[in-house]
Amino acid sequence: MDRIRIVGGNELRGAIPISGAKNAALPLMIASLMTDDTLTLENVPHLADVEQLIRILGNHGVDYSVNGRRERQDAGYSRTIHFTARNIVDTVAPYELVSKMRASFWVIGPLLARMGEAKVSLPGGCAIGTRPVDLFIDGLRALGAEIEIESGYVVAKAPRGLVGNRFVFPKVSVGATHVLMMAASLAKGETILENAAREPEVVNLADCLNAMGARISGAGTSTITIEGVTALSGARHRIIPDRIETGTYAMAVAMTGGDVLLEGARMDLLDKALAIVAQTGAQVTQTNEGIRIARNGAGISPVDVTTEPFPGFPTDLQAQFMGLMTMSNGRSKITETIFENRFMHVQELARLGAKISLAGQSAIVDGVPRLKGAQVMATDLRASVSLVIAALAADGETTVNRVYHLDRGFERLEEKLSRCGATIERISG
Ligand code: EPZ
Repeated sequence: MDRIRIVGGNELRGAIPISGAKNAALPLMIASLMTDDTLTLENVPHLADVEQLIRILGNHGVDYSVNGRRERQDAGYSRTIHFTARNIVDTVAPYELVSKMRASFWVIGPLLARMGEAKVSLPGGCAIGTRPVDLFIDGLRALGAEIEIESGYVVAKAPRGLVGNRFVFPKVSVGATHVLMMAASLAKGETILENAAREPEVVNLADCLNAMGARISGAGTSTITIEGVTALSGARHRIIPDRIETGTYAMAVAMTGGDVLLEGARMDLLDKALAIVAQTGAQVTQTNEGIRIARNGAGISPVDVTTEPFPGFPTDLQAQFMGLMTMSNGRSKITETIFENRFMHVQELARLGAKISLAGQSAIVDGVPRLKGAQVMATDLRASVSLVIAALAADGETTVNRVYHLDRGFERLEEKLSRCGATIERISG
């Protein structure tokens, strides 16, 4: 199993290209199931989760080619990929595949809308919390689907097609918003989704579906209106820059000090998180090329944060921000409201010398002047990268184990950081 070795203490200086967003790429790839035409996606990041979803979609009959070729490109950077679901050969998404990646459950929307049936394994447990699927089931039932749970599978049927309706999400869910937006695009009549997720990835998906011929308005607000159409066509669509990758590197620079241009990053995708990074003492500037982050000399000020659905502070940056706060010159309180068990990085940060105590949904972080390198590992993607950030600022050597978590969501992490002066390398085996 690969590990990452980091020797901390270097400032970061230079430029980091920001990749296409993982969490936009996944639903956009799934949208290819909705048409027998080709959906071309530009700026698809080269990540383990993307490769896994390609395999899952292949199981349903989706063919793909990378810039005209069937194989992967050598470069390993974001690519253009063509997806074609000429024939759906299987409407079953088996446990072996769905259990590896929760987002693959989302195929239920397109399969049901296009084929009138879908049998998708329940995603099962997850390291960051229970993550149920009740909102998907209630929402699809509101569109007329008959749904049963049988032997760990959600079996959904709509032999005469889905029918538009009004559905109020009792809780904001990114995934359920994606799925209902896709399903309603091929339903008869109008659907109104209230209390919908407002994340930029929802807007990116709605733009793509509209380019395919859907009639969606209001994406990015909490009320989305979808006028159903009978069929969708192919389209060409570009994936937005990854706001979580942007925020992660911004926090890394805020912690180590230095001056880095995050190329292609967009401030409007993470206003709240960057405003908080600025409050910690870093300078954050939007330029024509991207976002510039700099911190020179000044200490790290403690700031309290609470995770919230967009446009609030994202849960996917909570662990990284905690990494930054471990070296602040005071006490900060970090409250997690989206997932009930997303503090597994706390004990690993403690190995580096961080002082953190947990009280229910909150972590109290007392900043320390120095961290010291150690052996660490984490059980999810964002937690792993928080350890990388802390290690970059720590004295001495850190080994981050279980690197496969990082490979799920960060394209060429060690290369991007080492080009900015970090001492970081992957150790294979
Ligand atoms: C998306 O997950 C992201 N994943 C997550 O990023 C992100 O943390 C999350 O949104 C919140 O922003 C992708 O986009 C692929 P939710 P999703 O449905 O859609 C509860 C990462 O690291 N809920 O918005 O699965 C749920 O348990 C990942 O990149 C129900 O109760 O999240 C959670 O408490 C991790 N019932 C809350 O809603 C349901 O039926 C929000 O989850 C569905 C969700």
